[in-house]
Amino acid sequence: MKRFAFKTVVAVILVSAFLLVTLSYVRNSQRNTQFKAAQAGFRTMLQVQAMALNDGFFSWSELRTKVEKADLISTRALLEEVYDLYPYIENIDVRPGTPPDGAYGVASTVSSLSLTFGVKDDFGNSPLPGWVGEAEVNVQKLLDSLQTDRRIVVAPVKGRDLVYSIRADFVDPLLDWLDYLFIILLTMATGYAVSVWLWRRNVTFYETRGLESIIFLFEQTERVSANHSRRVAALTMFLGQKMGYRGRRLRDLYTAGLLHDIGKISVPSNILLKEGPLTPQEQQIVATHPIISARILKNFKELTHLSGIVLHHHERIDGSGYPEGLEGSAIPEEARIIAVVDVFEALVGDRPYRDPLTTEEAFATLRDMPIDQSIVEILVAHFGEFKSFQTPKWALAYHHGLEKV
Ligand SMILES: [Fe+2]
Ligand SMILES: [Fe+2]
Repeated sequence: MKRFAFKTVVAVILVSAFLLVTLSYVRNSQRNTQFKAAQAGFRTMLQVQAMALNDGFFSWSELRTKVEKADLISTRALLEEVYDLYPYIENIDVRPGTPPDGAYGVASTVSSLSLTFGVKDDFGNSPLPGWVGEAEVNVQKLLDSLQTDRRIVVAPVKGRDLVYSIRADFVDPLLDWLDYLFIILLTMATGYAVSVWLWRRNVTFYETRGLESIIFLFEQTERVSANHSRRVAALTMFLGQKMGYRGRRLRDLYTAGLLHDIGKISVPSNILLKEGPLTPQEQQIVATHPIISARILKNFKELTHLSGIVLHHHERIDGSGYPEGLEGSAIPEEARIIAVVDVFEALVGDRPYRDPLTTEEAFATLRDMPIDQSIVEILVAHFGEFKSFQTPKWALAYHHGLEKV
């Protein structure tokens, strides 16, 4: 149980860490895109403002004349109108200084930005030497006009380069509460799914183990069938792997192999142990064991889906088997695999009335039987490798024994 909780906690931590890293990465790249868009937008807006100011106010003979006369009061009165027309401009003035070379110039610090102009005539010529017009731009206001998503603000200390020497950054944390809510919900869902999955595996393991212990102890009562089910399960799993079974399907095949004869506990031992031929009535009783096996598995929640396999492990391809006389592919493939292995294990095992067959003799017998010959061929082709076959960790530990034949 401790292990169970530990695995769930580890899964939850891993998932939340993964989500946190992934979401941060996504949000960060979104921010980079937004920041780049803001940069481009800011540059364009600034250019438009500067050109408009240059054409509208600083290429204006009337203003030039007033400045030339150093009549700064009238000059400021003329410039007053700028505030109504250009909401991002504040503190526009004309002061002594050197006019910029081009239509306008830019002077900036980490947090402020000013546009500078020469004071020119109506045609944009003859800038007044010794005078410069200066308009301070409200950087934050201009930035705000470009924002659609998260807020970028002027951040002189920790910010990154926006334009010129202005530094700015996002004011919100990288992840917002919705992101955290998303992470928490997804982590909770994962934790729940993992715990259910582990719980089911646990239940399956103990249900299988419980029933397997019963069949194991039952088989130990007589030498003939001792370890039969474990040996069948091991070879069934080996064949299943060769046939491409993986994961849950392979586990199911293995478990069905392990429990296929559990119904034998209902067959009287004097019949099971009888030496010599059985009477028709005794045969009928033996033939009920797959039905009992299926019925037992149906009673266990995590094994109930295997009842169809164990029910048909004595069916034969030509319909001569029992209990339902199914033919060919109507018999589940898993049941056909178990049938082949079941017969093989009986042939090479010790019997009181005959010596065990050699592997080759057993193969020859299998080839003459109405069992799935394609599976027989896979067994024949790969049996040599079974000696070195290691059962996976999740399978019950035992010596499969068949490798000695
Ligand atoms: Fe059987
Ligand atoms: Fe069997």
